[in-house]
Amino acid sequence: MGLLFLNPSMRTRLSTQIAAQNLGMETIVFNASQEGWAFEFEEGAVMNGTTAEHVKDAAPILGKYFDILGIRTFPTLKNREADYAETILQQFVKYCGIPVVSLESATLHPLQSLTDIITISERLPVKDKTKPKVVLTWAPHVKPLPQCVANSFSEWVNAWGQADFVIAHPPGYHLDARFTNGAGLTNDQAYALKDADFVYVKNWSSYEDYGKIIPVENDWLLNNKKLEITNHAKVMHCLPVRRNVELSDEILDSNNSIITEEAGNRVWAAQAVLNEILCNMHD
Ligand code: CP
Repeated sequence: MGLLFLNPSMRTRLSTQIAAQNLGMETIVFNASQEGWAFEFEEGAVMNGTTAEHVKDAAPILGKYFDILGIRTFPTLKNREADYAETILQQFVKYCGIPVVSLESATLHPLQSLTDIITISERLPVKDKTKPKVVLTWAPHVKPLPQCVANSFSEWVNAWGQADFVIAHPPGYHLDARFTNGAGLTNDQAYALKDADFVYVKNWSSYEDYGKIIPVENDWLLNNKKLEITNHAKVMHCLPVRRNVELSDEILDSNNSIITEEAGNRVWAAQAVLNEILCNMHD
């Protein structure tokens, strides 16, 4: 399996390598943005600038070298249409000719979301027949971040159908309705947190004013005081997290936090997906 990284990663990179190794596969990591030729993605481009290799030339070669290709590629956060068309990932899919696994793309992070559903499922009280209340809450950040983790989490929790799901964000931060349809939406964080069993904390930049940080009036940083109205909620985050900007020390260092367990489950999620691909390849 080739693991092509156009952007940084710790958890996805290592958990996918471990998962592949557990299945008897070999992986080769290619940090393309640092060690490779700069890719060109535009059809018909006159490549007289900074790009040196067209995806139409590179991807088929990766298809010759590997049986499965994993790709991490972040959005531009400048061109919403191109990002939401998954232009870069789709060109690798089109030209490499082998199964492609998203290691987080412009708009989605499916391996993270599978992990998150596994983690929530494992933490459900065994005898509790009622749906858990799962809250996705926006959190502050110093940089404009992609919407992909929030999009994916929303899509997967909705598809799972086993939760009372609420998304809380400040005005100006609504997500693409294709992913949130089915969830309760509110600009009132306290209203969302009431009786929550799981609180998923994540920053994202504006979808509407694409890629921008919109000024926020209220304090959206989660702390222990805010958690008092929850049902002893477990707090989740995909990581990396900026402490005391996106999530407070007091929560991250408390028993409410299940972030390490969550990140640990990345191995099993990746392993399940790779196993499925391998089984289909041998059918
Ligand atoms: N959550 C996640 O994808 O972490 P990395 O960016 O470190 O892979």
